[in-house]
Amino acid sequence: MRAERVESGDPAAIATGLTDRLTDPLGVFAAPGRANLIGEHTDYNAGLCLPIALPHATYAAVARRDDDVLRVESVQQTQPVEVRLSAITPGSVSGWASYVAGVAWALREDGHRLPGMQLVVDGRVPLGSGLSSSAALICSTALAMCAAAGVDVDRRSLVRATMRAESEIAGAPTGGLDQTIALLGEPDHALLIDFRDQQTRQVPWRPADAGLTLLVVDTRATHAHSDGGYGQRRADCEEAAQVLGVPSLREATPDQVESLDDDRLRRRARHVVSEIGRVEDTVAALEADDWSEVGRLFAASHTSMRDDFEISCEELDAVVDTASTHGAVGARMTGGGFGGSAIALVPTDRMAKVCDEIAAVFAARGWAAPGVLPAPASASARQVS
Ligand code: GLA
Repeated sequence: MRAERVESGDPAAIATGLTDRLTDPLGVFAAPGRANLIGEHTDYNAGLCLPIALPHATYAAVARRDDDVLRVESVQQTQPVEVRLSAITPGSVSGWASYVAGVAWALREDGHRLPGMQLVVDGRVPLGSGLSSSAALICSTALAMCAAAGVDVDRRSLVRATMRAESEIAGAPTGGLDQTIALLGEPDHALLIDFRDQQTRQVPWRPADAGLTLLVVDTRATHAHSDGGYGQRRADCEEAAQVLGVPSLREATPDQVESLDDDRLRRRARHVVSEIGRVEDTVAALEADDWSEVGRLFAASHTSMRDDFEISCEELDAVVDTASTHGAVGARMTGGGFGGSAIALVPTDRMAKVCDEIAAVFAARGWAAPGVLPAPASASARQVS
């Protein structure tokens, strides 16, 4: 069994495939998935994250309609969904289309007048991979709808609108990491995001200059408790902050965390506080060109998520262990956890070997073949045609 390479596709060809399905298309807009380099479950704790945008994106083509209906089709779904713009409220649309309907709702809430629209989307970020296919869908459709409405909304306002779309209409109370990188990422850079004040800074990310490649491995494992698990971790963090009397865990010190009596809350808070420190240390290591330190921080982050935050799983641990045994400088799970993807910083000349070893471990354990994605830091949301 070999690992399956998941290609990002040719944007021009994908765009043509979509516009062929519309009469009078206005354009095609793309927004990327992401790999978070480090800083996991820190966004909703007013902490720090360091993601990159992937070359894999969701593409949305749009045409105007004369009525007030939003009609959405997806290359990946069998049924189109139609809803009147004025009828979109929390709970009125379910499933994948709620992400798209949510964007229309959020833009209208911000006072933008939207025309009726026909959208066709093609998602090239693997679904359920923990690489933020939902933010890619939301952000690509946000650009498409702004174009259809003829409004130019600045990116930071779009981050806020897309976060509201996801939490209030799609019902996924995420922390903002995914939408922020999808809308503000730059090629060859990671984005340092500070969720205390929403400040961002571009940090050069060019592992190839050091003979390294960032490998993303989609384990294709999704565990039943993934949705509930995310909410439980958020609730644990809020409870820990409340017990410590701080507005968020960003304000907690390591000593305060160790004083927590409850073992579970102490371990959850320890992950968050130590992880925020590791993001700062990773940025410093990158600025010092110290890749072995970056790798060490990746490994420490994974251990913290596995043991203290308890969001890893056998498949993710197997990728991290196997990659590290066969020469990765560092590896860790990425994203929300409970399945999904891991990242590994691998010497480029060992990539094929590491991929083969991971596939062999998966085969030996009776798991489906993992997907592997090339992951140079890529562009954020944009018009492609
Ligand atoms: C998911 C959420 C993000 C973030 C990560 C964990 O991807 O959508 O907001 O909380 O999990 O870092």
